[in-house]
Amino acid sequence: MSEQSERKRVILSGIQPTGTFTLGNYIGAVRNWAKLQDQFNCLYMVADLHALTVRQDPAALRRNTREAAAMLLAAGIDPAQSILFVQSHVPAHTQLNWILCCNAQFGELSRMTQFKDKSAKHPDNVNGGLFTYPALMAADILIYNADLVPVGQDQTQHLELARNVAQRFNNAYSPTFTLPEGYVTKEGAKIMSLADPTHKMSKSDTNVNAFILLTDDRDTITRKFKRAVTDSDGVVRYDPANKPGVSNLIAIYHIFTGKSIEEVEREFDGQGYGVFKEAVGAAVADGLAPIQGEYARILADKAYVDGVLKEGAAAASRIADRMIQKVYRKVGLLQL
Ligand code: TYM
Repeated sequence: MSEQSERKRVILSGIQPTGTFTLGNYIGAVRNWAKLQDQFNCLYMVADLHALTVRQDPAALRRNTREAAAMLLAAGIDPAQSILFVQSHVPAHTQLNWILCCNAQFGELSRMTQFKDKSAKHPDNVNGGLFTYPALMAADILIYNADLVPVGQDQTQHLELARNVAQRFNNAYSPTFTLPEGYVTKEGAKIMSLADPTHKMSKSDTNVNAFILLTDDRDTITRKFKRAVTDSDGVVRYDPANKPGVSNLIAIYHIFTGKSIEEVEREFDGQGYGVFKEAVGAAVADGLAPIQGEYARILADKAYVDGVLKEGAAAASRIADRMIQKVYRKVGLLQL
């Protein structure tokens, strides 16, 4: 990034390569990433180090990392505009992670709901990385002085911790880090499970009908929406507290068609859930079709994907390496 373009506000976000992205990942995060590219200096990252907090099969992790990058390109991340890279390719993130670990408190890390959830889910592997996960995430963000971080609702607590750690560091040393803000859209920040709409849609769900993968074909998408859990009153009305299943489907349909919530309610007024669910499935399948086409094309060209990631790592490192030197100096590490 040139001196001049550096004055544009900076965006950073990341996604873990723990399997194919879900519709939740797409709506809550990735869809917005592409839209923000014109307006901001964007850095987007495949968070492979974060994935290691849960036991990974090495070959699968390598494959998933490249596939994640290909999917981000297919979803509209333009390497001519944005920096796309893999977290572990920029070592300054882990260097800053240590400094931030020494500035993050045990108490605040203990309060993270994701830590509590994941510890409960993997009681045999409550490792140190899982605990300090938010400090690495803070490093990802703060090393680029990101102003905005487009994420789904489940990451906002981590973002708050990043702000607190940044503030604490700035107070202890001198102003160093920009305090990042979340970019969380109103509808779609929390897409719910199709099988249990009181829980968020997650690719680690053991019930495959709970989520839509971005690679699901039209028949699978149609079938999963047909089975989506709703309620028994048969009215298509947006009311997340009392009608979480139907409201989730309305939000998805609204996002894929661009129709307002009221328009959606009117469109299906007096019609049963069957017709509505069919329409939601069709809208999602239509919306994902071009991304799936691009994904297949891009993934077939491994050299292209790897080339983008190499250039991305070099560009990100140029910024991150400067920052880590500055931080090392401020905290008093001897530099020769
Ligand atoms: P991850 O990989 O779990 O999810 C990637 C993005 O998808 C969003 N998301 C959702 N949004 C709406 N509804 C859902 N059901 C849903 N499920 C997931 C997440 O909020 C996220 O924005 N720690 C991060 C990755 C990360 C990161 C970062 C993000 C690492 N470093 C720095 C931002 C900045 C994570 O595990 O996301």
